[in-house]
Amino acid sequence: MNEKQLAGQKAASYVQDGMTVGLGTGSTVYWTILEIARMVKEGMKITGVATSKNTEKLAQEHGIPLASLEDVSSIDLTIDGADELTEDLTLIKGGGGALLREKIIAYHSTHMIVVADSSKYVNKLGTFPLPVEITPFGYAKTVNAIKKLGCDVSLRKENDVLFLTDNGNYIVDCSFSEIDYPSTLHDRLNQLPGVVENGLFIGYAAKAIIGQENTITYVEK
Ligand code: A5P
Repeated sequence: MNEKQLAGQKAASYVQDGMTVGLGTGSTVYWTILEIARMVKEGMKITGVATSKNTEKLAQEHGIPLASLEDVSSIDLTIDGADELTEDLTLIKGGGGALLREKIIAYHSTHMIVVADSSKYVNKLGTFPLPVEITPFGYAKTVNAIKKLGCDVSLRKENDVLFLTDNGNYIVDCSFSEIDYPSTLHDRLNQLPGVVENGLFIGYAAKAIIGQENTITYVEK
């Protein structure tokens, strides 16, 4: 079993009957979703809230009942992946472009568990370029404003056209090399007009389940 599968499947064991569960996006939480689908087939009653159109499709294909965020009073537990995470459970997310919905759903969740392979667990954030979601209106100006914060920027493309998020926005991948002060950077980015949200998740996750070769490492707050 690979590290992603190990971590992803383990996280599903935290899902209990009757829960409303935020379903993250990506290749690690993919395994969580398949495991939850298996539990649902065996009779567990849960309601999923998807963090992206891709996850919505995956959950539907595997028979997980879904509701929209508007239709649930709260989310008991969200399980999601990360592109980087540190010991204090600060995360970089958005490699798959779903950071805005992921953050909204994480915010409205009582608990968040992160699932990752060992390559994601780092001493300092920043090797992975920080994804920032921006509006198409004025995007070139917004990109320049972000650049002035001291990073190299790259407007994300897919098949030679600008990548569009589920919300109809663009993603700028920002290389800072090392992020010394995640909270300051988070606030400075989100203060820029045109920035919708950035991929720094601070204070959301309480536990990380990390696949490490054939075993699992837990990081908890
Ligand atoms: C999606 O936008 C991201 O936040 C993912 O959660 C993150 O990229 C982790 O993806 P993998 O589990 O595929 O590495």
